[in-house]
Amino acid sequence: MKEKGAAYIWFDGQFVKWEDAHVPVYTHALHYGTAVFEGIRGYGANDNVFVFRLKEHMERLLRSAQIYSITVKHSVTELCNATVELLRKNNLKESVYIRPLTFVGMHGIDLNVTTNSPTHTIIVAFPFGKYLKADGLRARVSSWRRISDQTTPPLAKAAGNYLNSILATQECRRDGYDESILLDVFGNVSEASGENVFLVRNNKIYTPSFADSALEGITRESAIKIAKDMGYTVLERSIPRAELYMADEIFLTGTAAEIVSVTSVDGHSIGTGKEGPVSKSIRQTYEEIVTGGTKEYMGWLTPVW
Ligand SMILES: Cc1ncc(COP(=O)(O)O)c(C=O)c1O
Repeated sequence: MKEKGAAYIWFDGQFVKWEDAHVPVYTHALHYGTAVFEGIRGYGANDNVFVFRLKEHMERLLRSAQIYSITVKHSVTELCNATVELLRKNNLKESVYIRPLTFVGMHGIDLNVTTNSPTHTIIVAFPFGKYLKADGLRARVSSWRRISDQTTPPLAKAAGNYLNSILATQECRRDGYDESILLDVFGNVSEASGENVFLVRNNKIYTPSFADSALEGITRESAIKIAKDMGYTVLERSIPRAELYMADEIFLTGTAAEIVSVTSVDGHSIGTGKEGPVSKSIRQTYEEIVTGGTKEYMGWLTPVW
């Protein structure tokens, strides 16, 4: 990771100084990608930091681990408390990115990872701003297909899965685009390299289902709830590639990217070529919620201070 974490890292239940947090080069996860992780945001606002949907992220970490029989030795509650303690220990009072990671340790070259294999869990945090540019993304459909449940299940947020996202990102940046949208093995829209995809047609909102090789995104689920609460119809169904070109609006959702509009796909302008009204209203509501501005959604936030 390019970013230096904050001074302390939570490492197997202890706070360890950043410079002392080491792993052996034989670590199984380094060789085989045997790690599961989360990306979480904390938002600095009103002299506090609000961690967004902390419990849901830690629950997903455990579900991802379960798919690969990777043992997480800590409960969801312990991991949530550790995260809050980590931010306090590091005196973090601004917007942060939080990265919990459970990885297989010294397991030799043995591919038979079982629930008895040695594992470690770390949580790192660092100050964080925008991930993708905010004023409308130029996307391309990747020539790479999204990994499939028939190979490495996309429902697990597993380290190895991101090789697929990296190939797609390299390709799109090389070709001058901001982000890639991947199709699944059947040719339907799956997701972007690190975000779920939504499209808007005639005021209705559509997003691929989990059967289309999409991650069970927590921002996705939040955006669906927000949109439904605002009175929009949201449908989860397969989306063929050409429907992207026909959309009135397209937006992406993800912890790092937040809610961001796609204003062109493969050079086809989407709608007016600017962020559309439906995307805008959902994005603005989301931004209010994550910074503690909406009473009804305070249950999604964990205050640190
Ligand atoms: C491949 C992929 N899809 C979707 C998402 C969005 O998930 P979430 O909203 O939980 O961050 C992410 C980011 O975590 C991702 O890496």
